Amino acid sequence: MNKAKTLGLIIALAAFVGGWQLGANLNEAPQITSSVGGASYSGGAETNSADSINTALPQRIATGQTFTVNPGDSIQAAVEAAQPGDTIQVMPGIYSETVYIDKDDIHLVGVIEAGERATLDGFGKLNDAILYSGNNILIANFKITRYKGNGIMSQAGNNFEIRNNIIIDTGIYGIFPQLGVNGLIEHNIVSGIADAAIYVGMSDNIHVAHNEVFDSVAGIEIENSRHAIVENNYTHNNSGGILAFITPGLPIKTTYDVIIRNNFILDNNIPNFAAPGSTVAGIPSGTGILVMAADDVIIEGNIIVNHKVAGILINDHGNAPGLTLDPDVEPNADRVMILDNVMHNNGYDTIDEVRAFALTELHTGDIDIFQIGPSQDSCIINRHRYNHVGLGDFAECDFSNTDSTHSYLLVGGAKPRVIASEERGEIAYMGICAGCHAYDDVLIGPSISDIQAMYAGNAEAIVSYINAPVKIRPDYPEMPAQNYLDAETQLAVAEYLLNIPLGQSQP
Ligand code: HEC
Repeated sequence: MNKAKTLGLIIALAAFVGGWQLGANLNEAPQITSSVGGASYSGGAETNSADSINTALPQRIATGQTFTVNPGDSIQAAVEAAQPGDTIQVMPGIYSETVYIDKDDIHLVGVIEAGERATLDGFGKLNDAILYSGNNILIANFKITRYKGNGIMSQAGNNFEIRNNIIIDTGIYGIFPQLGVNGLIEHNIVSGIADAAIYVGMSDNIHVAHNEVFDSVAGIEIENSRHAIVENNYTHNNSGGILAFITPGLPIKTTYDVIIRNNFILDNNIPNFAAPGSTVAGIPSGTGILVMAADDVIIEGNIIVNHKVAGILINDHGNAPGLTLDPDVEPNADRVMILDNVMHNNGYDTIDEVRAFALTELHTGDIDIFQIGPSQDSCIINRHRYNHVGLGDFAECDFSNTDSTHSYLLVGGAKPRVIASEERGEIAYMGICAGCHAYDDVLIGPSISDIQAMYAGNAEAIVSYINAPVKIRPDYPEMPAQNYLDAETQLAVAEYLLNIPLGQSQP
């Protein structure tokens, strides 16, 4: 069948189905549900706390000392001298270094005097500002700018707080905790990031609140993580505002129990400048909230205004062009729950794929909510408030708010994570490399299958590359040096990487 004929048929069918639906709707008054009072969400229960937990840091391990670092001194030297329980305070001034914390219970705190901050400046040369892999870590009050890789990144550290930092133009990720349990990310301002300003990866029990994120590709991203609340943030002028999704090919395969509430999500229409082939390069510029393959996501109380493509875009992996499906990932966005939000002027200049699907419902004009792909047991209240497409299978929710879920942070904190020596390679791989390398897909760097083929069992060669990477592929960003890892960890991660069985689930 030629194209014109196919299109004609689709439109004819759509007219039939759409007309029938319209006819049915005409006789039905919209159901109006008050979002004030009424039943509260009772799912997400295992770790759900109604208590007002506002810290992710348990009691300190020991009553430690306080070190003071002055301009001209090295912060890293203070970290090396510090013991668990210690606080390092950094006086205002410029510091140009990579700080790596690999012990527990260190509080690294900038001192702000007359508005002047302790500033980590990478001068466009250094890759990472602050990296840590300990438990019970606090990072607060810094200004971080001009790094090429990460502002603040962690791997496998439980119980952390990242607070009140200003992070401008730090490369690929602004704040990036990975494989952490129980973390609070609040009151940060993050801008100018080529992937995600705030990127929570493969983590659990996370609270992201009161941050401002802008001029980045993704504002706030909850990826392959569970039990996360994203609330009271201001996300504007990114390509996508807030995202909850599963990236296929990562060792952890699920995202669920995510509450996105009371955020201001405005004008996220900037051109997507992510590295070609990276997951976020697929975010259509002009998306307020994106839910892809994640389950049990509640969207409540947000103000979502001025997005070209859609206010809320919900899709499965099957409708995500360019992704390689992962047989161990359940690819649908199930149990998406949309409560009251204020949405206005969304979907006014959407992409062809969305427009074409909207036509099958005879929908033209603005689109606040767009849903495509199978989605089981999803629900919405007050759908009459929105311009929507694809919500035919969405039931009425039998609750109207999430008031009874205050936080998913854990009372008393999570058990500190102890990394046994035989886990070193795996943890470093999952915590660091998996942020940019997936098994079969290009994330930021080449796929593990390509690397395995290239290096064929030669772990030492990988160690020397990751110690001092050189630019190889013109269309990829540079890989940041992993020279802060000790030699033993470098070898362990190289060996681990070479032995990941391809096409398999959890290694
Ligand atoms: C911030 C993103 C990022 C992280 C984190 C990262 N890589 Fe990479 N990696 C890249 C990119 C981008 C390239 C491609 C660089 C190029 O071709 O110029 C690459 C390339 C490689 C290569 C192939 C080099 C070649 O000869 O073609 C190896 C091996 C590698 N990375 C190993 C690792 C290991 C091991 C880790 C974890 C310890 C890691 N990478 C962490 C982004 C990253």
